[in-house]
Formats: sequence, structure tokens, C-alpha cells
Amino acid sequence: MSVPKLIPGNVVAQHNSRESCWIIVHGNVYDVTEFLDEHPGGSKIILKYAGKDATEEYEPIHPPDAITTHLPNEKHLGPVDSSSVIKVVKEVTREEKDRLALFETRPPISECLSLHDFETVARQVMPAKAWAYYSSAADDEITSRENHLAYHRIWFRPRILRNVSVVDYSTAILGHKSTMPIYITATALGKLGHPDGELNLTRAAAKKGVIQMIPTLASCSFDEIVDAAEPGQVQFFQLYVNKDRSKTEKIVRHAEKRGIKGLFITVDAPQLGRREKDMRMSFDDAGAQVQSEEGQSIDRSQGAAKAITSFIDPSLNWDDIKWFQSITRMPIILKGVQTWEDAVLAVESGVQGIVLSNHGGRQLEFARSGVEVLEEVVSALRERNMFPNPRFSIFVDGGVRRASDALKAIAMGATAVGIGRPFLYAYSAYGQAGVSFIFKSKSRPFLIFHDCPGVEKALQILADEFEMNLRLLGARNLSEVVPAVVDTSSLRNHATSVPEDHMYGRNYVSMTGPNFRSLSGRGQKSKL
Ligand code: FNR
Repeated sequence: MSVPKLIPGNVVAQHNSRESCWIIVHGNVYDVTEFLDEHPGGSKIILKYAGKDATEEYEPIHPPDAITTHLPNEKHLGPVDSSSVIKVVKEVTREEKDRLALFETRPPISECLSLHDFETVARQVMPAKAWAYYSSAADDEITSRENHLAYHRIWFRPRILRNVSVVDYSTAILGHKSTMPIYITATALGKLGHPDGELNLTRAAAKKGVIQMIPTLASCSFDEIVDAAEPGQVQFFQLYVNKDRSKTEKIVRHAEKRGIKGLFITVDAPQLGRREKDMRMSFDDAGAQVQSEEGQSIDRSQGAAKAITSFIDPSLNWDDIKWFQSITRMPIILKGVQTWEDAVLAVESGVQGIVLSNHGGRQLEFARSGVEVLEEVVSALRERNMFPNPRFSIFVDGGVRRASDALKAIAMGATAVGIGRPFLYAYSAYGQAGVSFIFKSKSRPFLIFHDCPGVEKALQILADEFEMNLRLLGARNLSEVVPAVVDTSSLRNHATSVPEDHMYGRNYVSMTGPNFRSLSGRGQKSKL
């Protein structure tokens, strides 16, 4: 076998313009000149790294194989001689130094008692860009808050004297065992919060016996995530449908071949919602510098989200469902149904389920919460003898932060609920094993590390909450969590006043206005 010739770094450095643009990713050189205008994130960000190593910027927001699959083979120029590569020295800002210092002093994981606690810690210690992307939601973020608050309008009707010494909160999701009635829903760009990205979720899901839904836009490659699963571990796949159906077909067939047990097609994102926290962050980041290089104005509409989703097909419609059914035997679930009318159409189309979801409040502002929609969906399907139906499952996601939230949805007819952000926060703050506690021997302090990374701990918290809540409800298992367990009479009343949720409110960051710029061109926070 011949050893490939190394390309000297100074040769790469000469290709530093729009006319000839080479970049280095993971030690290999690529000629991206002809790809510049096709790049979903725009050409400016690539040009910033023209002739240089772009790995650090590339890594969190692309699967490792994105560049090799999108660029034709002749543009893969070969390995670089790393000794002569020009390093892009990123200035470590004061904010970043402060963040890293805070990260080192974050509380031991044992102090996290609820899913809110992970968010409290993550908000302070994760990179600002990651926080902006994960926490952001559409427009004024009212639907995002409503998703959680809707659960406050449902109250319990517990039963007593039921011998709850043994309780069982396990269930089956699309025929697969799950230790609890929750699953880890698909969230893109896992590496923004932690270098292991989605693998944090895969490992914890295996340990705790829950199902992970792999996103189309994962930062790790699909195969990496499937390879990281334990033998027999069940995984679902979330699909964004590409305008080029041959690409989608290839992805779906590959997912099925790799043993994926459910295809969740996202149907609420023909265009991406305006996530202003995310957009503002991208603007603050590369913007000003690139503008002065090229003398062009900046496209302010770009955020991490917009940059990665331009391939999604807005023409997707009910006729396409038949096509999906013809290319796969995986159960098909429509993710993002928001009315009973569409739920009925979904049953009639022969898919195996729906997720009542508004995408975590990231799409249509003033979309109702999934749990509110659940009530009308179950009622409409019951009237038509379409519910209950062992061949059609109803899932709900958005705003679930406690097992009690999940149990409310289960009582109302959901099979399970999806949880997104809390797991991202758990691994952004505690991706590795947590520090359990510190004690002092005679001579020096000892840190006790225990093998419980954030997502595992978050799942354990939920498991404990399920056990306690089932007992307090007087239900021995989930089949006893029936409609009579909840009072939903206020659910549709959006004007009900409820006690303030301090834990949630403390984490919620309100929107900010545009930044003023000082004469030196550096950003300044608005004092208004
Ligand atoms: C999402 N969600 C999402 N959904 C989807 O179908 N495809 C995707 O790529 C993503 N990406 C994504 C990224 C991030 C950072 C978030 C927070 C959410 C939506 C997700 O699957 C789910 O609907 C919500 O996250 C549920 O709300 P909670 O649990 O985050 O409140």
C-alpha cells in the first residue's frame, strides 16, 4: 500500500481566497472553492478559514462525514503535513475565561435533585453559543414557556388505600420495552454542548433502559451513534425530508438496515422558526470581521439552526406518506401534529403513530402545547373508534420536566412523552463522571468521582419521581394511570392564574434587544 503524500501547510495556506479555497478538516485537505456558494451556512464562514485548519469550527455543527459525502472525491486532496499548518489562534475572551472558571467550580452532581437543576448549572457553564442554540425558541418564546406551564393547569385526583408497596412504571413503546414512559427525543447539534455530543445520550439510554431518537442533524455521524449502542439497544430515527428524495431514500434504507426501530418524520418544519437568541449569537460571532474583509453586508438571518436546515423540503405532503410506506417497513410516526383533524388523517394514512409537538416552541409561535392538543386528539379519535388502538400510538413532547408531567400525559392517553433540552443541559454541565463529594483526610482533600454522567443522573431522577408519584397517585402501574387520575378542566383556559414556578422562572432568560456598537466597532450591550 502506498503512503499518501503529505501536503505542506504552506501550500494549503496559499489557497486562501474565493478563487481558490482549501481548508483542513481532521488532518485532511479539501478544495471547497466550488462548494462555497452551496454551503448551507454561507461562504463567509468558510472563507474565514481559507488556507487554514477549520476543524474546531467544523466539528460541533457537522457530522464527521459531512465533508466527505458532500464533496466529490477529486476535491479530497489528501492528508496535510500537520507540522507546517497555520493555526488559527482564537482569542480567549474574558467571558470565556470566566465561563471556564465557573465550570471548574460547578456544584457536585449529587446536588442536582431535579431536571431544573441541570439547566441552572448548564446555563452558567456551557458555551454561550450552545446555550443560545439549545434554549432558543421562536419569536417571543411564548409557546416555549407555555409548553411547560400547560402542565400546571392539570391537577391530580389521587386514590387511596390501594396497596402500593410495589409499583411498576415500565412500558412498551412501539412494542419495545422501556423502563419508563419517556424517550430521549431528537435534538440537533449535540457537540455544541459537549465534545461527545449525542454519544452521551446513547450511553445513558443503554444504562437506564430508555430509547433514544437519533436526529438527522446530529453532530456525531448516524453510524457512530448506532455503533455506540449496546447489543439489543433500541433506537429510533428522526427524519428531515430532503428536497432530493433519492438522498432521503438512501438515509431511510440505511437506517432500517442498521436496525432502527421507528422512523419519526418531522412534519412541523417546512421552514424554520425565528429563533432570535440563536440568530443574535451568530451575528455577534463571525459577523463584523467578515464584513470588513469582504466589504459586504452580513446576512443577519443566519443562526446555527438556519445554517443547517436549508435542505428541508417545504413541499412535503400527505401523498408522500405512501411513498415512505413503500420504501420502509419501519413503523412511521409523524412528529409535530398539532390538531385533531391531522391526527385523524394520520390514522387514516396508516402510519403507526403521532407526536403531538410544537418542536419545543421553536417553530410556530402561539402553537398550543402538545398536552393541550392531546385532549382534543384523544376525544376526536375516541368518537371515531380510532382510540384506543394498539397499532396507533400517541406521543407528546415539549416542556416535560418532571415525572408528574409525564404521568399527566399518560393519564390523558399518551403512550410516552419525549424529553429534549433537559438531557442536553445534563451532559453540557456533567458530560463526564460527576464529582460526588469532597472530604478531607488528615493531610489533604479527596475528590470522590463516581461513574454517573449527567444524563444517567437525570434519568435516575425521573425514575425516582415516577416511583414516588405512582405511589402517591395510588396507581400500581401505568395501566392504572387513567383519565380519572387527572382534572383537566382548566387546561384549555389560557387565562388561569397558577402559582409561580420559581425553578423554571429562574432559568428562563428573557429576550434582549439589538446591541449598540461603540465607535471602535466592538459590540456593547444595550443599557436600555
Ligand atoms: C430540537 N427539536 C428537534 N426536532 C426535530 O424533529 N429535529 C431536530 O433536529 C430537532 N432539533 C432540536 C434541537 C434542539 C436544541 C431542541 C431544544 C429541540 C425538537 C425536539 O425534538 C422536541 O420536540 C423538543 O425539544 C421538546 O421540548 P423540550 O423537551 O426540549 O422542552
